Amino acid sequence: MEPQLDTQRLPRHIGIIMDGNGRWAAQHGKRRVQGHEAGAASVRAVIKACRELGIEGLSLYAFSTENWRRSKQEVNALFRLLSKYMRKEIEELAQNDVRVRFQGRLDGLPAQARKDVEYCLERTRGNKALSVNVALNYGGRQEIVDAARQIAREVKAGTLQPEEISEDVFARRLYLPEFGDLDLLIRTSGELRVSNFMLWQISYAEIVVTPVLWPDFRKEHLVEAILEFQSRKRRYGGRP
Ligand code: FPP
Repeated sequence: MEPQLDTQRLPRHIGIIMDGNGRWAAQHGKRRVQGHEAGAASVRAVIKACRELGIEGLSLYAFSTENWRRSKQEVNALFRLLSKYMRKEIEELAQNDVRVRFQGRLDGLPAQARKDVEYCLERTRGNKALSVNVALNYGGRQEIVDAARQIAREVKAGTLQPEEISEDVFARRLYLPEFGDLDLLIRTSGELRVSNFMLWQISYAEIVVTPVLWPDFRKEHLVEAILEFQSRKRRYGGRP
């Protein structure tokens, strides 16, 4: 399938709402945690695929501000898994020129996860080929509120005038402005929802929803989504 991809028109920045771990587990007679473990293998496969295809930015929705409502047991298991994954995978990512970043209210994370986040940032700081943005304790509305607070502080301090606030000035106060807008948003497991993910950045994103559950998602599905992206005419509100 890959040869059909137009390498001149790849999405620069892809976001993924990784959904369906719980359903996958239920279908396989396993515990929810095992679904998340299987999901971690998909994360590995997709990062590798993005690196091979030459994608510049990949944003993954790993833990939302709403996910705290899950059982304490599941939340703890998710953070244990995230910490384990970060420690296990970081060397290989570092050696493959992948830079790992994080977005979200990181000071609200468990202490161990914060340490692992710091280490991943430090270990991959100089890398350039692919940037992976892991959303942790992330909410799209919270991100916009945090940017508004930052702007309010600057206006109060007199370093920014209200008339100077533009879309560009605003976007530069988001968590990771370097990643920019999303070109392609993929959601697995068939749900037609945005779920508070990168609300500012999806304004003109092409959305591809696949019925595939996240633990089953592999390079072939990513390629399919990119082909779908390339088949669409992006108009940004204008006329072709
Ligand atoms: C959605 O499935 C998935 C999550 C809430 C967590 C995503 C986490 C991982 C894939 C683990 C590893 C992540 C990284 C970055 C190493 P769900 O539980 O909502 O599934 P359901 O809707 O079928 O119940």
